[in-house]
Amino acid sequence: MDKVSIGLLGFGTVGTGVIRLLTDEKEKLQEQTGCRLEIEKVLVRSKDKSRKFTLDDTKLTTNADDILENPNIDIVIEVIGGVKEAYQYISRALQNKKHVITANKDLMAVHGDELLQEAEKNHCDLYYEASVAGGIPILRSLTDGLAADRIQKMIGIVNGTTNYILSKMSHEAVSYEKALAAAQSLGFAEADPTSDVEGLDAAAKKNGDSQPSRLLYPGDPG
Ligand SMILES: NC(=O)c1ccc[n+]([C@@H]2O[C@H](COP(=O)([O-])OP(=O)(O)OC[C@H]3O[C@@H](n4cnc5c(N)ncnc54)[C@H](OP(=O)(O)O)[C@@H]3O)[C@@H](O)[C@H]2O)c1
Repeated sequence: MDKVSIGLLGFGTVGTGVIRLLTDEKEKLQEQTGCRLEIEKVLVRSKDKSRKFTLDDTKLTTNADDILENPNIDIVIEVIGGVKEAYQYISRALQNKKHVITANKDLMAVHGDELLQEAEKNHCDLYYEASVAGGIPILRSLTDGLAADRIQKMIGIVNGTTNYILSKMSHEAVSYEKALAAAQSLGFAEADPTSDVEGLDAAAKKNGDSQPSRLLYPGDPG
């Protein structure tokens, strides 16, 4: 395979970063993977919105079918967020034999088991390293590199917004309110920051239940 075509669901904060990397690092990625990674289509809510990265207009679509039912697309990257539509779109992508990457921890916390089973049934990969501490990254290190180790405890600030706010408060002695406002203006924190600052996002990274943390990966019996 000399070319892999990508359909991206979402062109927001994360989607823009993905598109920027796939565009700016195209040659390096080709050298490392041995094939060209091409963005075929990008799903958005509005085609008229101004974007932080310029992309050929013909690649934008407001119709998910242009990606999910597109036989030319090999990999779907889901970065729209939310649970209901993301679940429907990812399920459909897997049923149509497309590999899926998602950064959506809320979705994986609620439907991770079902989606991984769907991926296995369709002989597709479902990767979600980006959903939990993607910048470290930790899931693959734990499942591959430290596979034979018994991890007894992991401690950390597992929410980027909280990490930003706490760092700003401790390094610059600013108030919580100011640190939160700065996080919002930089796009780290949502307009409604409840999920981040009340710990709901961090809890979702624990697989969404009150059981001890468990890692899910393709092939995991669940
Ligand atoms: N932001 C972060 O730092 C971060 C870090 C790790 C993981 N994540 C996860 O990554 C995912 C995306 O986050 P984000 O911050 O990039 O979100 P965002 O900035 O709100 O972007 C969402 C994008 O999806 C599009 N979209 C949303 N719902 C849609 C729908 N129903 N149909 C079509 N397009 C739709 C929006 O279109 P328009 O642009 O037209 O409105 C927008 O381009 C979330 O699951 C989040 O939890 C985020």
